[in-house]
Amino acid sequence: MAASDVQAVEALRVKYLGRKGIVRDLLEDLKNAAAADKPLLGQAINELKGHLTEIIEKCKTNIATKQSFTRNMPDRFPINKPYSDPTLPGLQRRAGGRHIILKTLERMIDIFVGLGFDVAEGPEVELARYNFDALNTPPDHPARDPKDNFYIGDDVLLRTQTSPMQIRVMEKTKPPLRYIVPGRVYRPDTVDASHSFMFHQLEGFAVDRDITFADLKNVMNIFVREYYGENARTRFRPHFFPFTEPSAELDMACGVCSGTGCPACGGKGWLEICGCGMINPNVLKNCGIDAEEYTGFAFGFGIERPAMMKHGIGDIRLFFENDVRFLEQFA
Ligand code: DAH
Repeated sequence: MAASDVQAVEALRVKYLGRKGIVRDLLEDLKNAAAADKPLLGQAINELKGHLTEIIEKCKTNIATKQSFTRNMPDRFPINKPYSDPTLPGLQRRAGGRHIILKTLERMIDIFVGLGFDVAEGPEVELARYNFDALNTPPDHPARDPKDNFYIGDDVLLRTQTSPMQIRVMEKTKPPLRYIVPGRVYRPDTVDASHSFMFHQLEGFAVDRDITFADLKNVMNIFVREYYGENARTRFRPHFFPFTEPSAELDMACGVCSGTGCPACGGKGWLEICGCGMINPNVLKNCGIDAEEYTGFAFGFGIERPAMMKHGIGDIRLFFENDVRFLEQFA
């Protein structure tokens, strides 16, 4: 008997057991039967009646149980399908997690905040004045070439570095200053395993009286040992940046071969992890800071490279393809 709701069961009850129902008709017909057959037929009809009453009561109880069950269950469990099994495990919602780039940034920010740095953020669409001019990068400098920049207008571009935030902060705030600036930067590089047209940087700078290169070295070394571990070895290699003088690149001994050279570091033994130096006095002057009274250091880390080194990720594109199988390893 297939009756799945109260009305259908009631219709069946009326059809078989009602005042004009089939059982009643059978009892009516009993008087036409032969006298000898009457007791047996009467007994059979009564048994049928009892049997039908029992079935209909069972249907009613089933429906009531199912209804209270469905009412107490979330919609996601389609309990009102016939024979659904409420003891099966439910559908599980997947928990989200923070992206590995964000986590790397947060870890780095934590370390610098512990050293007394404040956090500032700035626009990704930047004026050439901030991205280049005020950073002592003259109009004919090769870094300004249109093929190396996403220009939006003559003087507007997607920032190629987080360094312009040095200018934005120094223009508005008087020293002493200690700031870090996390953010996205853009360069029209051809995308491959180690290049992306968008990546992340963490800029940092400090301006005060009597700041020296020793302060820069100290802060960088504390950071590297805190982030990569006590045994990390560093070296400062002379370099050139328009906005720092002197400038350096900070290298870290390869974690696999500790500096002797191996396939992991391309045989070099050292991996460059950040550009840095003493803020060029011209930059301080461009922000209205007295370069005789104040000095400062600055540095800029990439985020993807350290994350790749730390977690053994071989391809930068993995960060931005949003394949959950990759992302959930770090959730
Ligand atoms: N802005 C540089 C770049 O994107 C990185 C950098 C180098 C930042 C030296 C600095 C610095 O603050 O002092 O390559």
